[in-house]
Amino acid sequence: MLRSKSALHDTSTSDPNRQLYVFPPGSGHRRSMTLFTKSRKRVLSGMRSTGKLHLGNYVGALENWVRMQDEYQCFFCVADWHALTTDYADTSRVKENSLEVVLDWLAAGLDPEKSVIFIQSHVPAHAELHLLFSMITPLRWLERVPTYKEQRENIKDKDLGTYGFLGYPVLQSADILIYKADCVPVGEDQVAHVELTREIARRFNGFYGDVKAVFPEPQALLTPAAKLPGTDGRKMSKSYGNTVLLTDPEPVVRQKLKTMVTDPARVRRSDPGNPDVCPVGDLHKIFSDQATMAKVNEGCRSARIGCIECKSWAADALLNLLNPMQQRRKKFEENPRLAWDILEAGSERARQAAGETMEDVRAAMGMSLGYEGTSEGK
Ligand code: TRP
Ligand code: SF4
Repeated sequence: MLRSKSALHDTSTSDPNRQLYVFPPGSGHRRSMTLFTKSRKRVLSGMRSTGKLHLGNYVGALENWVRMQDEYQCFFCVADWHALTTDYADTSRVKENSLEVVLDWLAAGLDPEKSVIFIQSHVPAHAELHLLFSMITPLRWLERVPTYKEQRENIKDKDLGTYGFLGYPVLQSADILIYKADCVPVGEDQVAHVELTREIARRFNGFYGDVKAVFPEPQALLTPAAKLPGTDGRKMSKSYGNTVLLTDPEPVVRQKLKTMVTDPARVRRSDPGNPDVCPVGDLHKIFSDQATMAKVNEGCRSARIGCIECKSWAADALLNLLNPMQQRRKKFEENPRLAWDILEAGSERARQAAGETMEDVRAAMGMSLGYEGTSEGK
């Protein structure tokens, strides 16, 4: 995927090529929203509170979220309870990590004037809906979720044989459905979770929605997976320790790029290389403009440029993207309280929206909070 820098930062929505998130619209849903007018489709997405974000998080999600804000009513959730599903034994950093995530979100351009930015644990209704969903979700649905099997196999240093970990996608379903979201922008790895969310919505509506469906079935908006390599050439991921953080200062970015692996066929300076099999070439494809890309292509294949030079151009392109983010971040870094206040205000709005859905949910289940007497003498 080739993107020019100007396209990356252009906030207009006129160029159809930029609308990575466009997806066939879902069916019209009946709604009973009062606090939030439903003129725009609703989006919900979230990230676990795992601390500072890296470029992979940006191109895999955040960049797309920033663009979506003008077109959708967006809800962005810092999923701190989801962080507990794996980090339950040591909770000392969860709260701080939530704040770090929000700082990066604000730096990247999520805007509290446009979107509801909130923290999951401050909206306790997510837990209530999770509990109700847990009653109707067959165990076999959860056991077959691919992330469940994979993570249990891959993460050996923690005991993931817990009730909470199995229920991870049920909690995620509650995150999504409590806002009656129409669309959920996610990467490939989360599509199965959105699919499960649709099944839970269907089952809930089937049991309790005879008068009217309570939940719409949300669509996954697949964020096109830019193949973003880390410094070791594998997919950029916190667990591989191969990331470039959104907060890395210039010298760190340059140093990380210097040590990045290249086309293994290019052993000597005089050996021609191939940017299509080089992780640095992949970075250029994602972040560099066409002119630079052309220089890389020509120079690498003819051995007229060295890898050191090529990497310095890649670093320039990354810094072009990171600099404005780091500028924007300063204000919040100097006064993190500002970011916390944004999270608090967003959580208040989220509680209102979630509260309205919970009233529909309780009413549909015949469990509204008001007095209704007995079926015999009232
Ligand atoms: N499970 C998601 C992830 O690991 C994070 C998440 C939590 C989420 N709640 C969500 C994503 C709701 C989309 C919608 O990336
Ligand atoms: Fe990779 Fe650039 Fe070196 Fe070619 S010149 S092998 S693209 S780093």
